[in-house]
Amino acid sequence: MGINILGTGCCLPEQKLSNNDFCRFIDTNDEWIRTRTGITERPMSGWEPTWYLGLNASMQAVERAGIDPKEIGLVIGCSVSSDFLTPSMASIIQHKIGAVNAAAFDINAACTGFVYALDTARRFLDTDSSLKYVLVVAAENLSRFVDFTDRSSCILFGDGSAAAVIERSEKLYSSHLASDGSGANLLFARSMDVAEEIKTDKEFETEFADMPLHKLYQNGKEVYKFAVQALPKSFELAAEKAGITIDDIDWFIPHQANVRIIETAAKKLGVPMDKFIITLDHYGNTSSSSIPLALNEALEKGIIKRGQKLALIGFGAGLTYGGIIIEY
Ligand code: COA
Repeated sequence: MGINILGTGCCLPEQKLSNNDFCRFIDTNDEWIRTRTGITERPMSGWEPTWYLGLNASMQAVERAGIDPKEIGLVIGCSVSSDFLTPSMASIIQHKIGAVNAAAFDINAACTGFVYALDTARRFLDTDSSLKYVLVVAAENLSRFVDFTDRSSCILFGDGSAAAVIERSEKLYSSHLASDGSGANLLFARSMDVAEEIKTDKEFETEFADMPLHKLYQNGKEVYKFAVQALPKSFELAAEKAGITIDDIDWFIPHQANVRIIETAAKKLGVPMDKFIITLDHYGNTSSSSIPLALNEALEKGIIKRGQKLALIGFGAGLTYGGIIIEY
C-alpha cells in the first residue's frame, strides 16, 4: 500500500538573514559560507512561534488538498523546536484547523523527522481502514537554540514549516528507517530543565562542555562524515525494498544540510545533480521542515509531475537516517 499526496503547504517567517548579516556578530564572510555550505540566506523567526508556522503550512496544505478538516483522522507533527514540551504541536494545530475528529501526536527524529512521520502516517493508513486523511506537519524554529557565537554551526540553520495531506493509494511505496545512537553526542541540544548534573554527564561531555546551556552543539566534521554515508545508504536500502534502481527515480529530495554533502552523495550514487531538488541556498538547514519545504517548492514550481517517482532521504541528530520512495 502506498500514499497519495493530496496537497502541500509551507510557511516561512517574515525576516531573513543573509550571509552578510552574520558578519555583524561573528567572524565570517559570505564567500566562506557559500563555498563551504551552498547557503546564501535563511528565514529566521522573530515573533512567530513554531506552532504558528506549522498552523499556516497546514492550512495551506488542507486548502490545496481540497478536503474538509473534519475528515482528517490523524495529525502527526515533527519538530525539534516545539514551543512546548507538552502539549504536542500536533494537538495545537489539530484544534486550530478544526480537525475535530483527528488524533494528534508529535515525532522527534530530528532532521529525519518528516521521513519518519510520513512513514508512520502510511502505517496508520494501512492498519486503520476508518482513517481517510492524515496531515503531516513539520515546523522548526531552530534559531531559538542555535548558538550564535559558534560560527561553524549558526550559519547553517533556518526556520520554517511545511505540511502535507495524504491518503492511501496503490502507488509504489517503500521505506527504510534507521538510527545509530552511538553518534547521539555528535549533534544535540539539552532540554531546558537540566541542572548541575550536566557537569558530570560523561556520556555527552565534549570539547564544548563550557558552551552555553540549551544551545545546539555539533561536531561538524563527524556529522559530515556520517551524512555522506547515510544519504546514499538510505536510498539504496529503500530502493532495494521497492525493487527499483537509481534510474527509475525522477527526483531526489534530500535533507538540505550542506550542498557538498548532497554533491558527494550524488557522486557515490552516480546520479547527476540536476535530479536533486536543492533549496538550501535560500532556506538553509530547517531540520525536519527541509524535505517537505523542498517538496512543496518543487510542486509549486511544477517541477514534479504526477506519476513521477521521488526519493525523500533524511539524516540528522540521533543519529537518525531514512529514505522513502513514493510515486507522486
Ligand atoms: N566563517 C569563516 N570561517 C569559518 C566559519 C565561518 N562561518 N566556520 C568555521 N570556520 C573556519 C574554522 O574555524 C576553520 O578555521 P581554521 O582552519 O583556522 O581552524 C576553517 O574555517 C575550516 O573549518 P572546518 O570545520 O574544517 O570547515 P568545514 O569545511 O568542515 O565546514 C561545516 C564546516 C560545519 C560547514 C561542515 O563540517 C558541515 O557541514 N558539517 C555537517 C554539519 C551538518 O550538516 N549538521 C546538521 C546535520 S542535520
